[in-house]
Amino acid sequence: MTSSPKTSAMMRRGAEFLGTEHAILCGAMSWVSERNLVSAISNAGGFGVIACGAMTPELLDAEIAATKALTDKPFGVNLITMHPMLFDLIAVCAKHKVGHVVLAGGIPPKGSVEAIKEFGAKVLVFAPTLALAKKLLRSGADALVIEGSEAGGHIGPVSTSVLAQEFLPALAEDHVVFVAGGIGRGEMIASYLEMGASGVQLGTRFACATESIAHPAFKAAFFRGNARDAIASVQVDPRLPVIPVRALKNKGTEEFTAKQVEVAKRLDEGLIDMGEAQLEIEHFWAGALRRAVIDGDVERGSVMAGQSVGMVNKEEPVADIIAQLMAESEAALSRR
Ligand SMILES: Cc1cc2nc3c(=O)[nH]c(=O)nc-3n(C[C@H](O)[C@H](O)[C@H](O)COP(=O)(O)O)c2cc1C
Repeated sequence: MTSSPKTSAMMRRGAEFLGTEHAILCGAMSWVSERNLVSAISNAGGFGVIACGAMTPELLDAEIAATKALTDKPFGVNLITMHPMLFDLIAVCAKHKVGHVVLAGGIPPKGSVEAIKEFGAKVLVFAPTLALAKKLLRSGADALVIEGSEAGGHIGPVSTSVLAQEFLPALAEDHVVFVAGGIGRGEMIASYLEMGASGVQLGTRFACATESIAHPAFKAAFFRGNARDAIASVQVDPRLPVIPVRALKNKGTEEFTAKQVEVAKRLDEGLIDMGEAQLEIEHFWAGALRRAVIDGDVERGSVMAGQSVGMVNKEEPVADIIAQLMAESEAALSRR
């Protein structure tokens, strides 16, 4: 018998879709969401998702196998749509009969949703607009994640609260929709469930769990960080491409701003052409998330974190975090 009957009842559709006890996903976090965190989340009744990121098919193959060795519960794989070997990665998921594939980082290329469904897996997609969400759901996507700008990592411009109001009344009755971005406590989960969400996805709250392999310095930066420290990357010059990423401000974010000013100046002076300028900006953060998560360089690495980072104060086992979120949601619903 569950100790959170109201929350569990409202999560039922999402939990059935995921094959889990709770409709709580731990969103894929590159370098963080590997075998240890993913299996811990799934073993605790949530849904872990491997972050494939830039992995080769061989690396993904090994990561899925290693995760399977640590859990017999369902977990998913997150693939970045612009990965040059996307279809090989899908084949690896097929080989392992992965039950759920999350397509992130852009509109799924032609044939990718079909290729995933062909081996029986469910496809989760992100959509920046309601029109695109409807199109993707019509063309075979099984569920949607709406992720607001409060989230850590790559973000869109619209907040979770506004996305929820736009998407949930329009889609939640007929479709499985998970809400992500800025969720730090169970009271917020209860609210999105009441609006019709089938479940939620959190990243920041889980990144520093005991089972997370993130470097102690990365975790310490999270424990120190407040909501206002998790800032979106700043674009100085419209000519230079800046992908919006939310991360803790540090020396790297300051230097990135200075770098843009300097590159724009050289561009104005004709010392470099547009292609070179754009490449310099693109390369600035190359490998930066790995430097922060694995090497613990929290000054010059990219410490991707959402605004809920202020609610992450200590290292806790995944099971405790999930139990706490469920209890907070249940208490909120019971007070209604
Ligand atoms: C360190 C970090 C790395 C992330 N990497 C990815 C990624 O590789 N792919 C992806 O789809 N989302 C990525 N995300 C987003 C998460 O999957 C999740 O949707 C997000 O963290 C939810 O919002 P929250 O941080 O407010 O909880 C990342 C987030 C963080 C904090």
